[in-house]
Amino acid sequence: MQTSTAQALTGRKILLGVTGGIGAYKAAELVRAFKREGAQVSVVMTRSATHFITPLTLETLSQNPVGLDMFSLTEERTIGHIDRAAWADVFVVAPATANYLGKAANGIADDLLTTITLAIRCPVVLAPAMNSRMWSHPAVVANLAELKSRGAVVVPPGEGELACGEVGPGRLAETEIILAGVRNALAHGDLTGIRVLVTAGPTREPIDPVRFISNRSTGRMGYAIAEAAVSRGAEVTLVTGPVSLPEPPVRIVQRVSTAHEMLEGVKKALPDCDWLIMAAAVGDFRPSRPSGQKIKKDSRDGISLNLERNPDILKEIGPLKGGRLFAGFAAETEDLIRNAEKKIREKGLDLIVANDVSAAGSGFESDENQATLIDRDGGTADLERMPKRVMADRILDKVLSLWKGR
Ligand code: C5P
Repeated sequence: MQTSTAQALTGRKILLGVTGGIGAYKAAELVRAFKREGAQVSVVMTRSATHFITPLTLETLSQNPVGLDMFSLTEERTIGHIDRAAWADVFVVAPATANYLGKAANGIADDLLTTITLAIRCPVVLAPAMNSRMWSHPAVVANLAELKSRGAVVVPPGEGELACGEVGPGRLAETEIILAGVRNALAHGDLTGIRVLVTAGPTREPIDPVRFISNRSTGRMGYAIAEAAVSRGAEVTLVTGPVSLPEPPVRIVQRVSTAHEMLEGVKKALPDCDWLIMAAAVGDFRPSRPSGQKIKKDSRDGISLNLERNPDILKEIGPLKGGRLFAGFAAETEDLIRNAEKKIREKGLDLIVANDVSAAGSGFESDENQATLIDRDGGTADLERMPKRVMADRILDKVLSLWKGR
């Protein structure tokens, strides 16, 4: 969901952490941008950051005392570290050095900023900046994945010429992009405490040990929903068919292959979840007797496959629904709305995302999608063509409003 107006920051309290990379000089511009949008800003710097920009600059621009020292009697007396953390509506660290990410991921608190980091309970936005080789180091990658899994919104560095002369990813993201990340973090966090089970991807039904029946699902829509839900504070479990996508930072991932395995995965995860969002394209049929050995191609007449029905996961688990909210997808090539409405009734859904998979540039194998949301009360909303990641937030907005109104 894009909130493009300045209102998202008006009156909001932004705690900005500045760590010691060359990108620290851009913190001045960032503070000015926050202030221009009507936010209150308080800055905390690490000692190394003061080599790149002076506290006086940031204090003047933010119009608030800059925090520097954990053991300064005057500073702690005026605003203690816990008070600073409690004051913030959003905590932004820009630039976030590899050193800071390492400490934050591991709970080390050896200065004011890292101590505040442990006391923070509001949404967190991290804008890393470092040399490209450091950025791709497995330790940094792992630390960032850990922080993301705890819900931090990461604004990745931009690509281009770095201060060290090398070219590649690593320089602090543009101010506008960091602002968008902050708006996003503030608008979100609204799924905190909600446990979401997302299914994604296709299933594979074996014909023999090397062949299978599957479908064109890439998992992109389901993965986008999982990622959006995590960045909005939800605890997400992902049950995924075979896909080749980077794993989103969810709490639990269960990898499955067949529809039966997906059913078992959903049954196992469901008791600990509040919402089920079935974005997986579950195979409806499977070969009734998969061969134990690779089928030879000698037969001149070809072979016939006898297919039998797979369980319909949503129907099977219907009796376990309780107070949970269920959302499904309807991929159709004809009679989109009528078929979707039928599925809502038959599968006991609260919401269905109906998409016409025959339309060019949406549905399977595309980064974009176009859909109609139909809810249990018959309400409909057309979502124009948009990136799946943006649509994921629109779907979650709708699910959240149905959840609140249940
Ligand atoms: O009936 P149809 O396959 O079109 O329904 C689509 C919805 O039902 C999707 O949300 C899909 O994940 C779910 N589904 C299921 N079990 C199946 C097939 C589809 O739960 N065997």
